Parts: sequence; C-alpha cells; structure tokens
Amino acid sequence: MSDSTPNTPVFKSREERRGDLFQRREAALAGGGAKRIEAQHKKGKLTARERLHFLLDEGSFQEVGTLVRHRNYDFGMMDNRPYGDGVVTGYGTIEGRLVYVFSQDFTVFGGSLSETHAEKICRIMDLAMKAGAPVIGLNDSGGARIQEGVKSLGGYADIFYRNTRASGVIPQISAIMGPCAGGAVYSPAITDFIAMVEKTSYMFVTGPNVVKTVTHEEVSAEDLGGADTHGSKSGVSHFTCPNEVACLQQLRRLVGYMPQNCDEHAPALPFTRGDESRAVLDTLVPENPNQPYDIREAIEGLVDTDSFLEVHRDFAENIVVGFARMGGRSIGVVANQPAYLAGVLDIDASTKGARFVRFCDAFNIPLLVLEDVPGFLPGTDQEWNAIITNGAKLLYAFSEATVPRITVITRKAYGGAYDVMNSKHIGADLNYAWPSAEIAVMGPKGAAEIIFRKEIAEAADPQAKLDEKIADYTETFAHPYRAAALGFIDDVILPSETRERLLDGFAMLENKAEALPRKKHGNIPL
Ligand code: HXC
Repeated sequence: MSDSTPNTPVFKSREERRGDLFQRREAALAGGGAKRIEAQHKKGKLTARERLHFLLDEGSFQEVGTLVRHRNYDFGMMDNRPYGDGVVTGYGTIEGRLVYVFSQDFTVFGGSLSETHAEKICRIMDLAMKAGAPVIGLNDSGGARIQEGVKSLGGYADIFYRNTRASGVIPQISAIMGPCAGGAVYSPAITDFIAMVEKTSYMFVTGPNVVKTVTHEEVSAEDLGGADTHGSKSGVSHFTCPNEVACLQQLRRLVGYMPQNCDEHAPALPFTRGDESRAVLDTLVPENPNQPYDIREAIEGLVDTDSFLEVHRDFAENIVVGFARMGGRSIGVVANQPAYLAGVLDIDASTKGARFVRFCDAFNIPLLVLEDVPGFLPGTDQEWNAIITNGAKLLYAFSEATVPRITVITRKAYGGAYDVMNSKHIGADLNYAWPSAEIAVMGPKGAAEIIFRKEIAEAADPQAKLDEKIADYTETFAHPYRAAALGFIDDVILPSETRERLLDGFAMLENKAEALPRKKHGNIPL
C-alpha cells in the first residue's frame, strides 16, 4: 500500500513533533509580544518571567501550566488564546528552599484574571499545601477578565478560599507590581505580607473615577492606593520598595526568617558564642524619663549583627515590629517606640503588633518584646474608633501565643499597657527589667495629681506639695523592684548583660511545648 491510501494514518515525524512543541514553548515565552513587553519596560516594570528570574535561585524555576489557554467563546476571544493565559505559575527555590510562585503577566490581556488563569493559581496553591511550602504571588493585573464575566469572579473566590484555608499553614506573601484593583485586592489582603513598589503599583477597592462620582473627592491613583499610601496611612502594605528588583530581593530576605510551614522551624544560621556583652546599651535610655530614644538602637544592639528586618516601618511608628536572629535563630521583635508619640499604644499600633504576633506564633517564631509604654492614647478619636476592641487584639494575640516569649522592660510599663505588652500574667516565659524601668499604674506626676488632689489644693504652696508627692510616688513605684519582689519580673539586669540573658533564655525555651485548650478556634475581637 502506498502512503496516499486513505486508510493509512498520517503520522507526524519525531522532528515535526519536536518542532511543534518548541514553537508552542516559544509562543508561551513571548507572552503578549515584543510591543507589549516594551510598553511594560517603559513603565519601569519587569515582565512576569523577568521578575521570577530575580526572585528565585538561578535556574531553579520549573513552570507548571505553560500551555494552558482560556476557553472563553464570547467576544471573539477564541481567535486570541495565548499560552499561559496571563499568569506564569510554578515552583523554584530561594536559598535552596522550595517556594511556589505565580507571576501575573500584564502583557497578556493586562494580566486579567480568567477562569483558567485562576485555575493555574489555585493549582499551585494546592500543590504548596500538599508539599508544605510558601506561596509567593506577584500581582500585576487589570482585575477580572471583563470578557468572562462571572467565571472570573468565581475564579477570584476560589483563590480567596484557598488563601484563607492556607492561612497559618504555609506562609503566603504578595508583591504588588502594577494594578491590583477591585476584589482582586482581597487575595493579597488575606496573605501574611504585602510588598509594594513605589510609583508603579497601586491597590484600591474602587479607583479614582468611582471615588469622584460617589464622594466627589479628586484623588490620583498614587494618592489613593500607591505604595506610600498603603505603607504609611492604611498599613495594608508591609514593605515599600523603591523598585521591582529591590522588592524581589526583599522577599528573598523575608522568607529566610520563616519556616516552610506551621509544623517546622525557621532555618538557623551557624552561630558561635563570643563576648556578648553590649556596653553601648548601658547609656541608651536617658536619665530623664521624659526624654525619647530610638528603640531600634536597643533592638539592633540585642539581636545578631545586621539581622533586623523591620516590617511595617512607616506605619504606626509608635510600635516597631520585625524579624531578627538571636544566636542564628529566627525571632520576632515587638517593641514600643519612645521616639514616636512617646511609644503610646493606639489603634494602629495595636493591630500592627497583633497581626505580627499572630504570624510569629502561627509559624513557631519566638517573640522578644521590648517595653517602654506610657499607656493607651486618650481621646475621642481613639475611643470612637474602638481602641477598646483594637487594643484587645494585641492582648489577645499575646495571650494566645504559645511560642517562647521573653519581655524586657526598658523604661515605662504603665497601666493596662503593662499587662498587654507580653506580661508574665498573660503567659510570657521570662520577663526582665532594666534598672531604668518604672512599673506602675501610671507616671508619678499623674498619680500624684489624682491621689493627692485635695492635699495639694489645700497646701500653702501647691507646687511644692505636688513636687513632694511626685517624689514620694517615684520612690515607691517608679522602679522595677516592686514588680521583681512580686515575681512579675524574673530579674533586673543591666542593658549590657541583656543579650547574654536573651541567648540563654531562648536556648532554654527552645523545646517549649504548650497547647491551647481544645477549641474549634478562638474569637479574636475583630
Ligand atoms: C480584559 C483587560 C483588562 C480586563 C486590561 N485589559 N484590563 N482585558 N479584562 N480587566 C487589557 C486591555 O484591553 C489591553 O489590551 C491590555 O490589557 C492593557 O491595558 P491598557 O488599558 O492598555 O493598560 P494601561 O493603560 O496600563 O491601564 C491598565 C488598567 C486598565 C488601569 C488596569 O487596563 C483598566 O482600567 N482595566 C480595567 C480594570 C477593571 O475595571 N477591571 C475590573 C475590575 S473589577 P490590549 O490588547 O490593548 O493590549 C474586578 C472584580 C473582581 O476585578 C472581583 C473579585 C471579587
């Protein structure tokens, strides 16, 4: 029989099949084509694949779902079915550790989310949950694929559902590297950390045009939801990065402090103990208790050199949170900042602190708390916006945490804030105080004015009487020894000795195992 016989199947040669595969691969790699890639670069943005190159260890990326295409018949979409469908998904490594990634490709339908685009993201999230490894999402998208309607909305919900189920099981990190609007913001919002790039990224539920129509406010996209806005005003974003490469490097550093999942511990760096005394800390706290100092100096003096990675740096600056290493091991630091609003606790500081504490507790990262807090911020603004509920978040988060927890009171520990800031009463394991500590219901002046009001008013020289009563109260309470006598403080230690004590303390607590009472889940005051 000849080859032209109708019954003979026509086979493609091996070479033809290889060529076919390579052609498809090439098309997938080309994304939305040279013109759109050029437009992306002109905006100061990298492509989805270039971003993965900077995020992952060289050569480690393995793509999953390269040849996926949308299946939408409406609006002539069948004539345009690019491979990948606007998102590059897969896995790779950061410093040799497995991570799953998705990177939206703005050059393909503006990175908009279709049914299949969502399926690709869900697939790698499912794999990440099975393998117990972090998911990092690089967001750059015009939102729901308009041509797909409700299928796209369903896709978003499928992702939100997985984000929520994965919360506390595997770390989830989002970078916003372009538009992220409408309901699309809620996937990053559920993840543990958000990084944004200055000038080229924005997030909002409704954009400037809708805002203008509804509230008559004129606001630019940048002011409404740019990196600075979310890094300092709303606190939606945890890291504000000057450009995309810096952002991706920041994510690489960040995952180094985290375990792969909630059943593991973060990787430890090699550490050899040397002279751990830190004489410079002995003069950090001013002798005048009303003078500020920068708590970051205390943090940096206590933790391993250059290991502090601050989170939420420009938001609620009266509390400082971040990751660090102590003897090579990852810790979370929560510290009042006397250099900003005297370190007072307010709504933003409480929610910032609470969320960080909960992340650390979920992922077995021990907590170091440095305390210098004059109390909660008074005022109608705070009360009407629910400082009661929000302050309770921090209290709840600490009380619930089962990781090793050590507190050092550097100066003021006044009022309810004393209880909230990881006191022994709410489960801290070791609590130390520096000689400069003042542990009382309130500061001496306020206390004297209240309890001796009548006596002061009736005195021949009220100011002299007030000064006398302040001195009296200071002598009685403005030191750590009452609390130490009660065992609320385990020891009073010099600042210079503190690093050694912390190294010993965290080593002692390394195998701490504590379980919460059996429950479905708690009900944190939201
Ligand atoms: C389909 C989209 C798209 C979308 C952009 N494109 N957004 N395609 N669905 N949502 C396409 C454009 O048609 C264009 O295709 C390409 O992407 C680039 O878009 P440009 O407009 O040229 O880019 P730029 O000027 O940079 O503007 C970017 C943009 C704008 C601001 C994102 O495209 C925009 O406003 N898009 C619509 C945003 C939106 O309303 N999305 C729905 C939100 S509601 P070509 O072929 O010309 O390159 C939502 C609900 C989610 O997301 C709910 C979840 C619960």
